[in-house]
Amino acid sequence: MTRVLGIETSCDETAAAVVDDGRVTRSSVVASQADLHARYGGVVPEIASRAHVELIDDVVEQALVEAGTDLRSVDAVAAVHGPGLAGALIVGVSAAKALALATDRPYVAVNHHEAHLYAALLEDPALEPPLLTLVVSGGHTLLVAMHDHGRFSVVGRTVDDAAGEAFDKVARFLGLGYPGGPAIDRLAARGDPEAVPFTRPMLDDGDDFSFSGLKTAVVRHVRANPDADVADVAASFQAAVVDVLVTKLVRVAEREGFGTVVIGGGVAANSALRARVLDEAARRGLRAVVPALGLCTDNAAMVAAAAWWRLRRDGPTPLDAGVDPSLPLA
Ligand code: KG4
Ligand code: ZN
Repeated sequence: MTRVLGIETSCDETAAAVVDDGRVTRSSVVASQADLHARYGGVVPEIASRAHVELIDDVVEQALVEAGTDLRSVDAVAAVHGPGLAGALIVGVSAAKALALATDRPYVAVNHHEAHLYAALLEDPALEPPLLTLVVSGGHTLLVAMHDHGRFSVVGRTVDDAAGEAFDKVARFLGLGYPGGPAIDRLAARGDPEAVPFTRPMLDDGDDFSFSGLKTAVVRHVRANPDADVADVAASFQAAVVDVLVTKLVRVAEREGFGTVVIGGGVAANSALRARVLDEAARRGLRAVVPALGLCTDNAAMVAAAAWWRLRRDGPTPLDAGVDPSLPLA
C-alpha cells in the first residue's frame, strides 16, 4: 500500500488530503478563503498567498489526524505545481518539499488539470480509462480524452472565457456576489430556463467553446429589459452554458467512441449540469460519472490520487523543480 499526502494551494482553497493507492480517500480537508476575497469580487493573489501561509500547517495536520495517520506512515508527499497563482502555488509546493525532505520520502509535482480528471476515479474506484472528461472551472474549460493514466489529449477548449469565469462575471453583473457559480445555481432553481432564448455559442462549430459573447448577451438583455426577473435570467444563462457543454461532451464521446464520460472542476458542482450529463448519457447508452460536490471543487484528494499514478509512471519529482503558473495539461 502506498499512502500519499496531497496538498493543493493553486487558487483560494488551502487543502490537504491522505489517499491510499490512488483510490481510497482517508481524509480530505479544505479551508476555503472565499470569505476573504468576497468583498473584492474575485481572488486577490497577495491575500491568497498570505492566507495559504497561515493555514497550510494546520490543514496538513488536520488531514493527518482525520486519516488516523502521521507523517511517518506517509509514503509520498504531493503538491500542485501549476497552473494557478504563482505565489499561491509556491506555498503548497514548498510545504510538500519540506515535508518530503524531512521524512525522506519522494516529492511528486501534480498538474492541477490532471488532478481534476482524477476526481471521477475517486468517486468510482472501479473506473478505468479510456474516458472523455469535461473539466470546467474558474480558469479553464477543457474537453480531455484520457486514453490512459498520464496520457491525455485536449479535444476542445474555450477560445475566450472559462465557463466558471462566465458564471462569476454574470453573477457579479446581476449583483449576486462572489463566487458566482453557486449563487447562480441557487437562484436559477426558481427561474424559468426557457424565459430568455440566449444563443448557444459555437454549438455546431467544432469542439471548442466560447462564453464571453453569452456574458455580453446577458448584460444586453438586462439593460434592454430592466424589469426582467433575475431568476429567469440566471436560469436561462445557466441553461445556455449547460446546453453547449453537454451537447459537445456527448457528441465527441459518440464520435470518438468513448463509452464513459466524466466531469470535474468547480462548475461540475452545478446542479443543472450534473442532471443534464446523467440524462444525456443515459439516453445514449453512455456511462456517466458525476463526482460528489466536494470532489469537483478544488480539493487535495484528487491531487493525492493523481500523484499516485504519476509516481508509478514517472517516479519522484526532483526537489529543484519549481512552479509553473501556466502549466498546460498536454
Ligand atoms: O475548480 P474550482 O474550484 O477552482 C478553479 O480551479 O478555478 O472552480 C471554481 C469555479 C468558480 O468559477 C465557481 O463560480 C464555479 O467553479 N462553481 C460553480 C458552482 N460551484 C462552483 N459554477 C456553477 N455552478 C456551481 N454550483
Ligand atoms: Zn480547479
